[in-house]
Parts: sequence; structure tokens; C-alpha cells
Amino acid sequence: MQQSIILIGYMGAGKTTVGRQLALSLGWQFYDLDWYIETRFHKSVDLIFQEMGEEGFRDLERRMLHEAAEFQNIVLSCGGGTPCFYDNMDYMNSLAETVYLKVDPEVLAMHLRMGKTIRPLIKGKTPEELVDYIRGTLAQREPFYTKAKHTIDVSLMDNYEKIAITVKLLKEELGLA
Ligand code: S3P
Repeated sequence: MQQSIILIGYMGAGKTTVGRQLALSLGWQFYDLDWYIETRFHKSVDLIFQEMGEEGFRDLERRMLHEAAEFQNIVLSCGGGTPCFYDNMDYMNSLAETVYLKVDPEVLAMHLRMGKTIRPLIKGKTPEELVDYIRGTLAQREPFYTKAKHTIDVSLMDNYEKIAITVKLLKEELGLA
């Protein structure tokens, strides 16, 4: 069977962690869109933002989404903003099983504070500014995220046992268990 799964959701939702484990358990290839962009252009997302601004990054992101999403039998995790620009969400829905990994703002803030990835949109924010920023942008982004064909709440996913349970739930939801 030819198909693919695309994971969407806010920064720090665990798209890469869940996606990697899901791909492993299906025996499929895993791709992370930010990684794909960084590898194709030999530059970090942070540097691309600095050199081209957000608008330039979004254009690259759309073009790379169109390359990566054409692969079959893959799990692809997108950037947090990917579904919210151009017709990206409709495009993803036309090609793949899309899944929104939903996480509460406070949990996202905790993950982002602990994470090592440099994320240009939240660089230099204090813990209070970060939670406010997440609440505001999540409210703007949810109308796009909820267009996904499937939604699962992963707010409680914070250790490997829970990641395994999430992957199991996801496979059941997608009829792949
Ligand atoms: C972004 C999320 C990031 C990355 C870029 C912009 C966003 O990906 O694409 O920094 O707009 O939410 P992750 O969601 O993987 O952190």
C-alpha cells in the first residue's frame, strides 16, 4: 500500500520524536522538513531566517514540502508554521494522512525551554514572554492545525513509555496497528 503520514503541530509538540518512532515501528522512512531544508541548502533554519527573513523561509519551506511530500511510505514531520502558509494544509491533506499533535501551551513552553534547537521565532524570550507568545500564536494557528484529518492530544507525552503509547494510539487511529 502506497501512503504517507504527515505530522503537524506547534513547535515543541514532539513531532520529530513521535514521527521517528512511528516510522521505525512501520518500517518506513522518516523525514523532518526542517532537517530536509537544512540539508538541501547547507544552512540552519536560524541562518535562513537571518538571511532571507521569515517570508523567504516560508517560500523555501513550501517548495521543500512539495519535494518531500511526494515520497511514499514515509512519515514526515513539518515545522510548526508549515500548515499556516499558502495552501500547504490543503496540499498535505490531498497527499497524506495528516495528524495534528495537540499540546497545551504550558507543556509546549516547558518542552521549548528544555530543548536545544535554536528557534528563530522564540529566541531571547523570557519564560513569561514565551507562554504569552505561544498562547497568542497557537490561537492563530489552530484553525489551520484542526484541518488535519486526525488529531491526537499528546500533552502528557513526556517519557519513552508515553511516546510508545502515543505511537500505538496513532497506529490504531490510522488503521495501521
Ligand atoms: C517554526 C517552527 C520550526 C521551524 C521554524 C519556524 C514555526 O520547526 O520550522 O523555526 O513557525 O513554528 P519546529 O516546529 O520543528 O520547531
